[in-house]
Amino acid sequence: MAKKTEESDISELKIPGHVAIIMDGNGRWAKKRLLPRNMGHRAGAKTMEDICEDAWDLGIKYLTLYAFSTENWKRSEEEVTGIMNLLRKYLVDCVERSAKNNMRVRIIGDRTALDEDIQEKIAHLEEVSKIYTGLNLTIAINYGGRDELRRAVTAMAEEAAKGELAPGDVTEQYISSKLDTRELPDPDLLIRTSGELRTSNFLIWQLAYTEFYFTDCLWPDFNKDELIKAIRYYNGRDRRYGGV
Ligand code: IPE
Ligand code: IPE
Ligand code: MG
Repeated sequence: MAKKTEESDISELKIPGHVAIIMDGNGRWAKKRLLPRNMGHRAGAKTMEDICEDAWDLGIKYLTLYAFSTENWKRSEEEVTGIMNLLRKYLVDCVERSAKNNMRVRIIGDRTALDEDIQEKIAHLEEVSKIYTGLNLTIAINYGGRDELRRAVTAMAEEAAKGELAPGDVTEQYISSKLDTRELPDPDLLIRTSGELRTSNFLIWQLAYTEFYFTDCLWPDFNKDELIKAIRYYNGRDRRYGGV
């Protein structure tokens, strides 16, 4: 008899168009195994690769992953260097994977603070994957929601100073158009792994009406079954958007 997995009866499910994930718990995953933290990040990077294919299989069109926050620079130099090296490898490998999976890749966050070679790898990946029409994968690197708003407000202040922007022009839509996520719809579902119940400065403007799903599963252990569990939870929610 076929094993009953989370994959049974998924055809009935309403699939969220945009799923955002706070990929947390790499450090704890490593600690449980008496491994250095960076081994947890390495395992987490592998999960990042697999989940893109799973998301597309399930019919998700936009997947946004929080990889490194503006606050994560507070970690030890060894850990930050380890994460940056994993990102380097990820960005390079992703050129081939984007072609294989027809995946368009975007990076959000303040890339100007990243090493020059990483900025170049990002620009190259974004450029070559522009033509792909499958999954829209967005990776947040040196991203903070407050920093994103600060940069947007600065850009608007510059326009105002030049006389190109009047106070009445500052609509919600205009603000959204100045954010790193300007080409993305707002997330329908936010997932945070490893049991923390906070947003840690992720997409604070864009999550206004997003459904939140928290799981104790550590990021390196996250997989397609866990993603389906999150989608089942999402299917049980009643999105009222302030109505009745
Ligand atoms: C998430 O895992 C990855 C990054 C923030 C870069 P953590 O490294 O935060 O893992 P924990 O929270 O210490 O377990
Ligand atoms: C959020 O995780 C950032 C990423 C997953 C990249 P953190 O582990 O940095 O968040 P806090 O410190 O628990 O809030
Ligand atoms: Mg953490």
